[in-house]
Amino acid sequence: MSSSASNATANEKKKDEGWEYGEARDPTNRNVVWCKLCNKKCTAGISRLKEHLIGGYLNVTKCPNVPVKVSKKFKDMADKVKNDTKEKTRLEEEKRKRAQDVDEESGEEEDCSGGITSRQIATCRIAVAIHMLLIARFGPGVMDTVATWTKNLCINISQGHMQDMPNEVSSEESIKQGITDLSTWSVLDLGTGNGLLLQELAKQGFSDMTGVDYSEGAIDLARNLAERDGFTNINFLVDDVLEIKLDRQFRLVMDKGTLDAIGLHPDGSLKRIMYWNSVLRLVAPGGILVITSCNNTKDELVREVENMNQRRLSASQDPETLKGQATSVDPLPVFRYISHVRSYPTFMFGGSEGSRVATVAFVRS
Ligand SMILES: C[S@@+](CC[C@H](N)C(=O)[O-])C[C@H]1O[C@@H](n2cnc3c(N)ncnc32)[C@H](O)[C@@H]1O
Repeated sequence: MSSSASNATANEKKKDEGWEYGEARDPTNRNVVWCKLCNKKCTAGISRLKEHLIGGYLNVTKCPNVPVKVSKKFKDMADKVKNDTKEKTRLEEEKRKRAQDVDEESGEEEDCSGGITSRQIATCRIAVAIHMLLIARFGPGVMDTVATWTKNLCINISQGHMQDMPNEVSSEESIKQGITDLSTWSVLDLGTGNGLLLQELAKQGFSDMTGVDYSEGAIDLARNLAERDGFTNINFLVDDVLEIKLDRQFRLVMDKGTLDAIGLHPDGSLKRIMYWNSVLRLVAPGGILVITSCNNTKDELVREVENMNQRRLSASQDPETLKGQATSVDPLPVFRYISHVRSYPTFMFGGSEGSRVATVAFVRS
C-alpha cells in the first residue's frame, strides 16, 4: 500500500468514534488497540474495542470502567448498523425476487408463442424496462411524503378545510383528531407494484385498501410483503387499469408511477385516454385522485386533466352523440385541481423552476 493510501486508511480509522476510548500505541499495527479506560489490549482493531466497551459479546471481556452512557452509545450505534444491513439485504432480496418474477413472466409468454406475437413480447419488455427505470427515478423518501401528505389532505377535506382554497394545513391537534376520519376513506392504488405505498397509507390510519396491478408477479410480491409485514387487510387484485374489471368506486385513488408507465408506452397517447376513462369510473363523486409522477410536472398534469375535461365536454355537445339522449342529462364528471406537494426539492432549468417529482391531487365532481 502507498504511504498516502495508508494515511487515508489511518485517517478513516481515526474518524471512528471508538478512537475516543482507544489508542494504537504501535504505529505499524493499528489493529492492536489499548482501552484508555482500563488499559486492556484488544488485538482485533477498533471494532473489537467497541465490543469491549459494549459488553455481552462471546469471548470479549467487558471494560470494568466504562460509563453506562458510553456503553449504551456504542450499543445503539452497533444496533443501527445491524438494522441498516438487515434492511439493505431485505431490499436487495426484494429487488432480486421482483426481477425473478419479471423473468418468469416474460419466459412464460415466450413459451406460449402460439398466442403471443413478437411485438407483444417486445412491448412487455419495454413495459418492464420502463417500470424499473421509473422505480429508480422516484428515489427514497417520496413514498413517505406521498403517504403523509395524502393523509393530511384527506383529514383537511374531512374536516371541511378545503372547500375554497385547498392549500392550508390543519393544526397538529386537529390532524390527530382527524385520524379517525380516515376509516371512511376507501383507497385504491392503481399499478400498486410491490404494494408498499398502501402499507405506508395503512400506517397513516387508512383501513379500507385495495391495490391493482396487471402483473401477477407484482401482485404476488405485494401480497407476500403485506403478509410478512402484518398488513393482512389490504386487498390485492390482478387487473388492467386500462380495461378495468373492478366494479367499485373509491373515495381516494392513488397512482404513483403508473400513468408515467402507461404514457411512456409506444401507444401512450391512446392509452392515456383509456386511463382517464377508467379513472373517471373508479373515483367516487367528490372523491380524490392523487397522481405522483416523475415524468410530468405539476403543470403538465393539471393541463392534461383540463384537456381531458375539455375533450369530454366537446364530445358531449357533439350533435351525433346527443342524438337520442334525454333533454336533461347529468353534468359530466370532471376532475379539478385542488393541491400539490410543495416540499419536493426544486431546481432551475432553462430559467424555470422544476422538481424531479410531482404529486398532484384532483377532486372529481
Ligand atoms: C413505475 S411502477 C410503480 C409501482 C408502484 N406504484 C410504486 O410506486 O412503487 C408502475 C406499475 O404500474 C403497473 N402497470 C402499468 N400499466 C398497468 C396497467 N395498464 N394496469 C395495471 N397496472 C399497470 C406496472 O406493473 C407497475 O407495477
